[in-house]
Amino acid sequence: MTAEQGAPRPLRLGVNIDHVATIRNARGGRHPDPVRAAHLAVAAGADGITAHLREDRRHITDEDIARLSAEIDRPLNLEMAATEEMLAIALRHKPHAACIVPEKREERTTEGGLDVAGAREALAPLVDALVAAGTRVSMFIEPDPAQMEASRAIGAQVVEIHTGRYCELALAGDGPGREAELGRIQVAAAHAHGIGLEVHAGHGLTYETVGAVAAIPECVELNIGHFLIGEAIFSGLEPAIGRMRALMDKARPVPRVRDLGRAG
Ligand code: PXP
Repeated sequence: MTAEQGAPRPLRLGVNIDHVATIRNARGGRHPDPVRAAHLAVAAGADGITAHLREDRRHITDEDIARLSAEIDRPLNLEMAATEEMLAIALRHKPHAACIVPEKREERTTEGGLDVAGAREALAPLVDALVAAGTRVSMFIEPDPAQMEASRAIGAQVVEIHTGRYCELALAGDGPGREAELGRIQVAAAHAHGIGLEVHAGHGLTYETVGAVAAIPECVELNIGHFLIGEAIFSGLEPAIGRMRALMDKARPVPRVRDLGRAG
């Protein structure tokens, strides 16, 4: 039975390795190597690797992207701002997927989702160029149906729902706020799926917050970075990823992507 016929959809884990590069760059040099971390992440069960090449190159570098493209045999999801420079890099490497994110130099991390509805004319040619190159295009947006509609209208195949607000409310111990935001994410995921978009989610997810998001049936991929790399300091990268994977599977006990081909 296929997902469309009613079976639960498998849920992929994309491991974001940006902050391995953050630590490397704190001293310069080559250690710790984010590409080595990507290999370990794959060995620990990551279904894909995610990396954000920022305009200011504060963590991932152009060389990292080249090496990840050449060395990693899992899908690479390149997070990128909608700029000519990033488009040229993406077209050079043709990653499996590109997630278009808003980017401000002064922010510490990606704050809020992309305003696709307000920038349709500027974004449409970029989406066209990436899709024509064979890259799956994802829009990193707030759980807002208007942004989903705009994403579909300009040809994106995927939306990644920003879970940052949900995770911040959880961290603040705001139970009702957290529930309300989770409800927004659930409704938005159902809406996006209903209009034919593939649904991903990510930002700020932790062991504590991942379960409720993993349980959203329309969601097929979570991208998780900062918490995993932080936990790796205490437990090692492979156990941290293994524990996250186990929590996802507990919330969503369906066949994993890489196990599907093994049945029979
Ligand atoms: N998804 C997107 C689009 C992001 O920009 C980020 C942060 O780079 C993540 C997921 C991962 O967020 P975090 O590092 O907080 O897990």
